[in-house]
Amino acid sequence: MGNETAWLPSLLDGAQVRLVTSGRVAIGLALQALGVGKGDLVLVPAYHSPSMIPPVHWRGAEVVFYRVNADTTADLSDIAAKLDGKVKAIMVTHFFGIPQDLAALRALCDERGIGLLEDCAHCFYGEREGVQVGSTGDYAIGSSMKFFPIYEGGCLVSHRHPLNVELHPAGMGFEAKAALSALEASFSYGRLHGVRLALALPLRVRSLIWNAVKAHQAHQPAADSAGLAPSSSDSSYDFDARWADKRSSWFSRTVMGRAARSRIVTRRRRHYQALQQALVGAPGWRPLFAALPAGACPWVFPLLAERPAALFEALQAAGVPMVRFGAVLWPGVDDSICGNSAMLGRCLIALPCHQELSDQELVWLATTVRQALQETACA
Ligand SMILES: Cc1ncc(COP(=O)(O)O)c(C=O)c1O
Repeated sequence: MGNETAWLPSLLDGAQVRLVTSGRVAIGLALQALGVGKGDLVLVPAYHSPSMIPPVHWRGAEVVFYRVNADTTADLSDIAAKLDGKVKAIMVTHFFGIPQDLAALRALCDERGIGLLEDCAHCFYGEREGVQVGSTGDYAIGSSMKFFPIYEGGCLVSHRHPLNVELHPAGMGFEAKAALSALEASFSYGRLHGVRLALALPLRVRSLIWNAVKAHQAHQPAADSAGLAPSSSDSSYDFDARWADKRSSWFSRTVMGRAARSRIVTRRRRHYQALQQALVGAPGWRPLFAALPAGACPWVFPLLAERPAALFEALQAAGVPMVRFGAVLWPGVDDSICGNSAMLGRCLIALPCHQELSDQELVWLATTVRQALQETACA
């Protein structure tokens, strides 16, 4: 799409919105709003993040995994086959930022009186044939940390039902941690150099205070404190119910409120397409999606590797940041449950296409990946 500017609807446009601390909290709250409880079943894609499961257990319900097709779309015939009287809700995910067509699934849910939870964790912006992401499900959720430079954040939205969810502030310790951790992450990626210099002293003071707080907490019984921030911000798959009624921090809400949407969409799309283009002709890979659809704002650029273990090792050694989504699945989910999910978990390597990547970083990324593909193909 060259240098043209793209604008796409956001998950939050025209919806009722609650900004919480993670996508998984939003899943838990959506299931609660759907009345999911003890004895109910919730259908979840066999290709998933393990963080999507504990919110179902929090409601007292059980998960049943349904198959996905090789392009990550939901296998509707498998879903239909799994509907018994106990299925109360179905979760469906727009993987990697590519909006799926949910019309048939919506119709099935309407016919059977089942709640539809649209998982937009990878898809903060987008539309498909004029249908805005987040507008088809009874409820939809987002994982804001994947799109904005923030330490914590998720959202629960609905275009279809009022949100009777009351949130509370999580306290000054959380507010400070959310702001400072986001700034520190930016510094570690070489961003905000001026701010880094200005904050050098306050950050040192913060470290001292932090260490004192941690030393104090180490002597408290675990149940006393929910910690300064949820574990969802620290690459864990856990669900901590103590954060279910907490509002996202002022810092995260402010960053999201000021985000330049057209820039995010345009640059993510451009980076995705530049990476795909740059790897054409290199051996040992194919893109998960043949082309980037017009209405998509990608989370990452997913490719399928012929020799994933060797490629992963080479890229890791070169310092390439990657996501191997689905490499860890919920225990028991394997080829016998869904061959496509197992294949995606094994072969998929996703590269960053973040809006803040510089041209120089993008060229380095493409060159390094190309080289690793060539080396691992010959090895
Ligand atoms: C598809 C999907 N849904 C939900 C979640 C949960 O989001 P969060 O990590 O913000 O809790 C994730 C997290 O990676 C995800 O990938």
